[in-house]
Amino acid sequence: MIRIMGYIKSAALEETGYVILDRYNQELDPKEWLDIEYVDWKSSGDTRFAPLASAKGDIECNGFWNHQPPRTDKDGVWIPAQTEKAPNLTRRAQEPGANVGRCRIIELQPNTYADALYNLHQDDNNRLNPDGTGWVVRSFFNLTDDKDSYFVLRENRTDPSEETRIALPAGAQLIIDTQRLWHATAHYGDEPRYCLITSWESGPELDAYIEKYNGVSKIDSVPVDQETLDWGQAEQARRLAARAAALAARGQKDVTAMSEA
Ligand SMILES: [Fe+2]
Repeated sequence: MIRIMGYIKSAALEETGYVILDRYNQELDPKEWLDIEYVDWKSSGDTRFAPLASAKGDIECNGFWNHQPPRTDKDGVWIPAQTEKAPNLTRRAQEPGANVGRCRIIELQPNTYADALYNLHQDDNNRLNPDGTGWVVRSFFNLTDDKDSYFVLRENRTDPSEETRIALPAGAQLIIDTQRLWHATAHYGDEPRYCLITSWESGPELDAYIEKYNGVSKIDSVPVDQETLDWGQAEQARRLAARAAALAARGQKDVTAMSEA
């Protein structure tokens, strides 16, 4: 555990901004993510969300700072109508004993690497987070067995040189400082991808959890052929420029850099 700029952070995430934990045996659990209620919520890509914990215990996904009174992404209120249908997912989100903010399942429709690069964003996990408390990071537990899909992480939105691509089989467990790293998913296949995303407060509980499940802070990227990489990079540049031009024509700034999801 270390302190940077007043916040408590995990030393395990300091170097790369992510850790990969031991894989969870997803096959043993029922597909609880199919039993709960989803709401339309625009994130990066074509998505819906099913919250397990929200600002006030309602089935909605808005940032806690958009509620009254505005507050940071901690002390999420569990939603009984959802958690009783998803006891294993709830147990897994609560297992570290770290403070939980938002906790929800994302449903993502299939897309491409180029889409992922265009969708790269940073989260706003620490808005209103009081100085001296734990930095909020996110866990991603992949639920579906998305053998050809991968998470894309970058320190810099448009710089491919530091890109990391992490495989997303069923049971993959990642913890990511998503306010630091630009991130999005390339999801290949015919079916939607489901993933449990939980906001956790950094601190001794989270550190112990990372250690218990053998967190690794650096891995080799999923291999992708050069043609796909080059096309994705060109597409990202083209689409970002088109969006900036469209916004400029309307006299608006591009404010998509900080997404709520
Ligand atoms: Fe995000």
